[in-house]
Amino acid sequence: MASRQVARYYLQPRYFATCNMENGMSYKRVIITEFGGPEVMKFVEEATLPEPAAGEVRIKVQATSACFTDTMVRKGIYFDLKKKPPFPPGYDMAGVVDKVGTAVTHLKVGQTVADLTVSDAYTEYICRTASSVVPVPDGLDPAEATSLVLSYVTAHQMLHRAAKVQRGQTILIHGAGGAVGTALLELGKLLDLKMYGTASKPKHDLVTRLGGIPIDYRSEDFVERVGIGSVDAAFDAIGGNNFKRSFKTLKKGGTLVAYGFYNNSMGQGGNVPIEFMKVKLWNLLPNGRSSTFYSIGALRKKRPAWFREDLAALFDLLAQGKIKPVIERRMRLDEAVEAHKLIEQAAVKGRIVLMVNEG
Ligand SMILES: NC(=O)c1ccc[n+]([C@@H]2O[C@H](COP(=O)([O-])OP(=O)(O)OC[C@H]3O[C@@H](n4cnc5c(N)ncnc54)[C@H](OP(=O)(O)O)[C@@H]3O)[C@@H](O)[C@H]2O)c1
Repeated sequence: MASRQVARYYLQPRYFATCNMENGMSYKRVIITEFGGPEVMKFVEEATLPEPAAGEVRIKVQATSACFTDTMVRKGIYFDLKKKPPFPPGYDMAGVVDKVGTAVTHLKVGQTVADLTVSDAYTEYICRTASSVVPVPDGLDPAEATSLVLSYVTAHQMLHRAAKVQRGQTILIHGAGGAVGTALLELGKLLDLKMYGTASKPKHDLVTRLGGIPIDYRSEDFVERVGIGSVDAAFDAIGGNNFKRSFKTLKKGGTLVAYGFYNNSMGQGGNVPIEFMKVKLWNLLPNGRSSTFYSIGALRKKRPAWFREDLAALFDLLAQGKIKPVIERRMRLDEAVEAHKLIEQAAVKGRIVLMVNEG
């Protein structure tokens, strides 16, 4: 149950959860006060910690990603969430179990866990259904652990479950310098893929370092650079005409995995339902190519075991040092407004992680 909010907004906060002898322990979180620009997010203090209900655990959050999808939630244009403000954004998190509700037997206080929350993770404390959280192996950096939950599970499932890419194949990645793009590059490198990656010029060094062949989408035609009929899979969250052009680059047997509408989310036109239907229709054309729309939320709902299995496999790769998420900046929770501005300016290489209860 949501605790009473203390009417105090923090402008220059140094924050720690503090003990209030009368009301129990207070805590801080970031809430979207109304749908709109970054400034609608406020850093607030709540009077008492949330209490885990039966079957829930309370988690002391250590890290949460600040990602592009959070900016869509903040604007009220994220189709998968019907909540009305005020509520916190925050699509994923990693943290330590702090209190266990009744009827929870498989999790203990002190255990590190992660979850795909979709919203609500910009907070020091959160309650989650015990069956939805995934244990994080000991010794992992919480910022790196949370980075795997949304963007790496998305990249992994698109590669392995949607496109079913094979070792040594050729792929095209749009937004290759962003959170999902860099995850696709890192995971694709483990499969020795030949990878073309569209990105603006300042992100080309990063794309190259991660094993990709950068294409400056602002000055080059990616269809010409890659070639018509030349890739086994294309991963496209840009939308609009980009989907059609990505489809052209597919070989016979190739797959377009569409997974977002970046341009539309940035107010650059495009009709989402029509674009979605086109992707579905192209799949029916008898031209030997397929197209599909990937959604982490829809797939998790349909196949919850895959989500747990895939995230656990990614934690394993992280523990073995086979992947290392690109985190350009670690910021504080009270810097969420600044983080969203940077994301919306496409000024972030890889990702931003908000560090919450550290140490
Ligand atoms: N379906 C799902 O389950 C799912 C899961 C996660 C994310 N998503 C979606 O995937 C998209 C990307 O998410 P993200 O977290 O990776 O965002 P991000 O970190 O902001 O990365 C997006 C990148 O795209 C680049 N970009 C912008 N316009 C471009 C264009 N026309 N061509 C090529 N690159 C372009 C931007 O940088 P430069 O312009 O500087 O290159 C930026 O780095 C978002 O729309 C998000 O909502 C969907």
